[in-house]
Amino acid sequence: MSGHSTYQPTTAFGKWFDDRLPLYRLVHDSFVSYPVPRNLNTFYTFGGILMLMLVSQIVTGIVIAMHYTPEATMGFDSVHAMTRDVAYGDTLQDWHAVGASMFFVAVYIHIFRGLYYGSYKAPREILWILGVLIYLLMMATAFMGYVLPWGQMSYWGAQVITSFFSAIPLVGETVREYLLGGYAVGNATLNRFFSLHYLLPFMIAGIVVLHVWSLHVTGQTNPTGVEVKSKQDVIPFTPYATVKDAFALVCFIIVFAYFVFYMPDYLGHADNYIPADPLKTPPHIVPEWYFLPFYAILRAVDFNIGIPFTDIVLIDSKLGGVLAMFSAIAVLFVVPWLDTSEVRSANYRPMYKIFFWLFAANAVFLGYLGSRPAEGIWIPLMKLTTFWYFFHFLIIMPLLGWFEKPLPRPASITDAVLAKHPDGDGSGGGTSQLEGAAAAPQSKG
Ligand code: HEM
Repeated sequence: MSGHSTYQPTTAFGKWFDDRLPLYRLVHDSFVSYPVPRNLNTFYTFGGILMLMLVSQIVTGIVIAMHYTPEATMGFDSVHAMTRDVAYGDTLQDWHAVGASMFFVAVYIHIFRGLYYGSYKAPREILWILGVLIYLLMMATAFMGYVLPWGQMSYWGAQVITSFFSAIPLVGETVREYLLGGYAVGNATLNRFFSLHYLLPFMIAGIVVLHVWSLHVTGQTNPTGVEVKSKQDVIPFTPYATVKDAFALVCFIIVFAYFVFYMPDYLGHADNYIPADPLKTPPHIVPEWYFLPFYAILRAVDFNIGIPFTDIVLIDSKLGGVLAMFSAIAVLFVVPWLDTSEVRSANYRPMYKIFFWLFAANAVFLGYLGSRPAEGIWIPLMKLTTFWYFFHFLIIMPLLGWFEKPLPRPASITDAVLAKHPDGDGSGGGTSQLEGAAAAPQSKG
């Protein structure tokens, strides 16, 4: 992708083809000879896992779409007919539904890895922003997909989420009507959600290409946070990273398969086995687990914001909640500029490390609170955790850069590896492979 290529076609046809369309060269330079830091740990395998999950969701989704009818009187029945009458239809549906959850498990690990190792810092800001964009599109896709089986939670979830848009001053109602295709959730809504649910994964795939392109320009970080400095610091992507990624992938698939075959409904909601009924509101409308932290933030704002000592309301509680929820995602876009520390990896940032784990625990607790009704003790807890969420990004991150005294960092990746394994000779074990990697483009640093 960047730098000069080491690919040499070995056959006459290979050379002929390469002179006209260097496709194999692109693949070779990106996934074979591409040099990666030699100390990547398991948390760096989740990007590859995410790629597989995206493909898995697209393939299963396309087959399900062959049996699905996006029509309000038939949406529910067509899904259930598929699970009963189509060969492996039930597995297919479980695979797609559980797959959505697993996709989010992987993306949350991937994001938290980035936050821990400071992956978002210069020069990887665009790489990070593209990631946040992917995450946003994933959420939109998952939300619209959940509406398609047209069960009770699909219907009422759509009702709740689309009503957020009507909180926007002046244009809110119009925006909501466009989204729904009418005044209420109905057949037109189902149709456009189906259309968009089919489209968005391909947009995600397009952004993933940019994401990986940007990654190949800047190079990967590594647990030390120290940039690549010499050919000793890197190993070729194949076989080292490919084998490690493949091993992690197999472990991930085993967990995924366990859920698909033994507990496919565990992550879903029982109410979605009841057909949508516009006249019967479920007692608790809860979104899927991966939206719960944001649902807690939405409901934490139950007060109007106005001019003190007057009755003038500037932001009512509904708009306030929606703003807080969208800000919780928007703040991720500016993380590269909120973190003022010069040190990248939390391994050498003793204070940030503590705050990172506090933030992670707070995020999990927010998720739990999102599943609780907005009453009693849960409301002040939602407020406290929402406060901490923003406090972490807006106050702690910028201030730590000034106050924290980082630990001494290794001079290079090789130094860090040898400090851990003093018996190693620093060659990485594959001399001939290494030479190939050394000649290939290296990360800047
Ligand atoms: C479909 C979703 C995604 C796919 C397929 C994907 C793919 C990848 C791949 C293959 C890598 C390199 C391997 C690795 O470091 O794990 C990577 C790295 C990275 N991704 Fe993603 N990603 C996705 C979503 C995201 C999201 C949501 C974010 C952040 C909000 C993000 C931020 C990053 C960053 C900052 C790196 C560089 C890591 C480093 O070198 O330290 N990605 N991604």
